[in-house]
Amino acid sequence: MTELAVQPSAVATRWWRDAVIYQVYVRSFADGNGDGVGDLPGVRSRLPYLAGLGVDAVWLTPFYTSPMADFGYDVADYRDVDPIFGSLADARALIEDAHALGLRIIVDVVPNHTSDRHAWFAAALAGAQASPERDRYVFRDGRGEGGELPPNDWESVFGGPAWTRVEDGQWYLHLFAPEQPDLNWDNPEVHAEFDDVLRFWLDLGVDGFRIDVAHGMVKAPGLPDVGHPGHVEMIGVAEVPFFDQEGVHEIHRAWRRILDSYEGERIGVAEAWAPSAERLARYVRPDELHQAFNFHFLKAPWDAAAFRAVIEESLLTAALVGAPSTWVLSNHDVKRHVTRYGGGERGLRRARAAALLMLALPGSAYIYQGEELGLPEVLDLPEQYLRDPQRLRDPDSGRDGCRVPLPWTAAGEPPHGFAPPGTAESWLPVPPGWRDLSVEAQARDGASMLSLYRAALKMRREHPALGDGTLIWRDSPAGTLAFSRGESFSCVANLTSEWIEVEAGPGGLLLASSGPAVSGDVVRLAPDSVTWWAGDLGDAVSRAGDV
Ligand code: NOJ
Repeated sequence: MTELAVQPSAVATRWWRDAVIYQVYVRSFADGNGDGVGDLPGVRSRLPYLAGLGVDAVWLTPFYTSPMADFGYDVADYRDVDPIFGSLADARALIEDAHALGLRIIVDVVPNHTSDRHAWFAAALAGAQASPERDRYVFRDGRGEGGELPPNDWESVFGGPAWTRVEDGQWYLHLFAPEQPDLNWDNPEVHAEFDDVLRFWLDLGVDGFRIDVAHGMVKAPGLPDVGHPGHVEMIGVAEVPFFDQEGVHEIHRAWRRILDSYEGERIGVAEAWAPSAERLARYVRPDELHQAFNFHFLKAPWDAAAFRAVIEESLLTAALVGAPSTWVLSNHDVKRHVTRYGGGERGLRRARAAALLMLALPGSAYIYQGEELGLPEVLDLPEQYLRDPQRLRDPDSGRDGCRVPLPWTAAGEPPHGFAPPGTAESWLPVPPGWRDLSVEAQARDGASMLSLYRAALKMRREHPALGDGTLIWRDSPAGTLAFSRGESFSCVANLTSEWIEVEAGPGGLLLASSGPAVSGDVVRLAPDSVTWWAGDLGDAVSRAGDV
C-alpha cells in the first residue's frame, strides 16, 4: 500500500470531536505468529475488519519492551517494541496500513511509572541515596526509629503499601505494582525524556496518545498522609494527595504544544480518574488535551435518571471548556458491560441498547474490542491462568476476564481464529461457546450485535445530526429517556422492564432499534431498548405500561 489516505492537512477538521475510536488490547486481539499472544502483525492483518466496522481510529494498548508485570503498563524501553508483540518495523507497517485504510492510530504512553527493569531504575538502585539517578524516581527515608516504616500511609491501587524498601534502607513509591516505580515529575530530566518519547512516536506517524494515569504524575508537596486507611479503586473518584493535583495540567499543556507542532491534528486522550465531571473537564481545556474518557458514564447504573444526570453534567461541564464529551462503556480494566448490566439475555439486551444510546450522544465514543460482539466477562477462567496484579488486592478484582482473546472464526476449536491454525493454546483460553459469538458467525447474522454496531456506525457517519453538537431533552415517562438532535434525529431509550409506546407522528420514521419494535398506530418499544428516529419526535413518548 503506497497511498496514504490520512494525509496531514493544513485544514483543521477537528476529527477527534466526534471520532469513534476502537480500543485494541494488543495481547488479545489477533495472534500473527502462533505463540498464543496477540501481536502487531496480528492487528495489522485485521485492520480491514476495523475499517469495515466503520470506526475512525484505533487505540493500541502498550506494545513496548516490558517484563509484563502489568501486561505492558510497566515499560522498560519506551522507544522499542517488545519481541512478543513484534518489532518497530511491524509498528511502522501497521501505522502505514492503517492510514491507507483511512484509520488513525493512537498509542498509549505511560508516564506515571516505568518498569523496575527500565535502565533508569537499575541506575537508581545502583546509585547512592540523594544521587541524580535516584532523583528520577520518588525515593524517601522511612518513618520509625530505624526507618522501618513506609514514608507515609499511601496504599497501592493494586493493594498493599505504595512503598517498597530497597537494600540500603530507603523506600520507593509505586502507586501500582512494586514493579512499577513512580517517576519524579519534579525532575526536569523526566520532562525532557517524555518530550522526546512523544516526538519519537509522532515522527513515526502516530495520530495521538492515550495518556495512562494522566491524573497521577504530580503528587502533593511533602507527600502528606491520606489520613485514613483504604486503597484507591481502579477508575475511582477518590480525592487523595497523589491524584488530580494542579501540577499535572502544566505537563498536559506542554504536551499539547508538542502535539500542535505536528501537522495532522494529533491528539492527547486523558485516562484521568477525576472525582467529578467538573474536575475531568479541566483536562480538556483548550490548551490541554483533546479528550478525557468519561468514566462516570461507564460507571452509571442501568437507570434512566442516573444516565440522564451523568449525560447532562458531562455535556455541560465539557461545553464550558469548549470540549467534546468522550463516551465509553468498557475497557481492559473493568468487567465487560454485558456482565455489569446483568449478564445473560438481559445483559446482552441492555448492551445493545447502551450501544445505540452512546452512539447517539454528542461527542466522541470508544469501543472496547469485543463489545461489538457482545462478549461477556469470562468469570470461570481456571486459576492457573489468572495473572493480573490487581488480584493481589482481592482475588475477585482480577481483570483477566475482560481480556480473553477475540473469537474470529465459527468453525473448529478454540482459540477460534485468534491465532493461526494449529496454535494449541491462547494465553487466556477462549471459551468453546464463543464460536457462536465469533466475527464470522455474527457477520452472517443480520440480527447480531456485530450487525447492529456496523449499521449504527454507518448511520452515525452518514447522518448530519449525529456526532459533534448538542442535544435537547424531551419529556418522557419515568424510566425512559428521549432527546432530539436537531430536527432530523431523535433517540428514545426505554430502560424499564416494560414495553412503552411512542407516537411517531408524521414523518417519524424508525431508523434503528436495539430490540424488537412493533409498529402500528403507535410504535411499541421493547424493555431495555433504544431506538433512533428520523425527525424530532418532540414529547411523543406517551406512556409506560403493559400493552
Ligand atoms: C491504567 C491502565 O489502563 C491499567 O491497565 C494499568 O494497570 C494502570 N493504568 C497502571 O498503569
